[in-house]
Amino acid sequence: MTTTGNLAPRPVPRRTVHVRRVRFSHPDGALRRHYVDGDLVMSHVLAVLSATFPPGEDFFVRAVRHYRDQITDLELTAQVRGFIGQEVVHGREHDHLNQALRQMGYPTQLIHRFIDKVLILFDRALPARVRLGFTAGLEHYTATIAEHLLTDPRAQALLGDTEVRSILLWHALEESEHKAVAFDVYRAVGGTERMRIWTMRVISTLLIAHVVAATALSMLTDRATYNPIRLVHSLARLRHSPFLTREVIRALRAYNRRRFHPDDIDSTQLLEHWRAELFGPQGTLTGKLK
Ligand SMILES: [Fe+2]
Ligand SMILES: [Fe+2]
Repeated sequence: MTTTGNLAPRPVPRRTVHVRRVRFSHPDGALRRHYVDGDLVMSHVLAVLSATFPPGEDFFVRAVRHYRDQITDLELTAQVRGFIGQEVVHGREHDHLNQALRQMGYPTQLIHRFIDKVLILFDRALPARVRLGFTAGLEHYTATIAEHLLTDPRAQALLGDTEVRSILLWHALEESEHKAVAFDVYRAVGGTERMRIWTMRVISTLLIAHVVAATALSMLTDRATYNPIRLVHSLARLRHSPFLTREVIRALRAYNRRRFHPDDIDSTQLLEHWRAELFGPQGTLTGKLK
């Protein structure tokens, strides 16, 4: 193996990646306009991410499914099934949330349609392996943010006691559960280290540009943005956001190390804790399972 070439596939360890059929409800008026702790910018950032998830997750599923027949490791085959099922339910539940956000004035439908078009273009224009590299890289973003949300009480506190909190905690748990699946598929089909790292660089640039531009556009549709005191206060708060800490940036960058693997960041205990907390016998979301 060269340092830039592909790594020999190793047997995939057992991981629990099973699909939970949850259903959340969003009655009219359940959320206040700035549902992230009354904060203008963060409420728009989260709406942009939520609008991006369903078409993004469809893209991930297409990218991984393309290689399903080439996987010979039975454990990985089972995890791919779990991964696809989990992402399908995430997309559906975020679609419901996005309808509620749209009623509140967020341009979630516009963002969804735009991203869908871009990603369908990617399907047509890019080799399957590049799309799988993008997927593995983006899954590192979702897993890193997810594990940070599950670890940092300050991040959880921003979400108050709303259905958005429930959706994000459930989604975060499953993103951490399946964080290595697209990565292991990439490795199993012979994806190189060099391509893994450059696809991550490309997709990082596109993701950051998208989130910044779509958030700016979303905020332009909100009257509160034109209140300079609120705007300046919210932008100042962003600098101390629990989601933009040094640890988060360090964990994101770890992916660019040669021989990195998502399992390098051990999440066993975190997952055990949150599985019990959300879906154990006394779990706060057990009642949402259908
Ligand atoms: Fe997801
Ligand atoms: Fe995911």
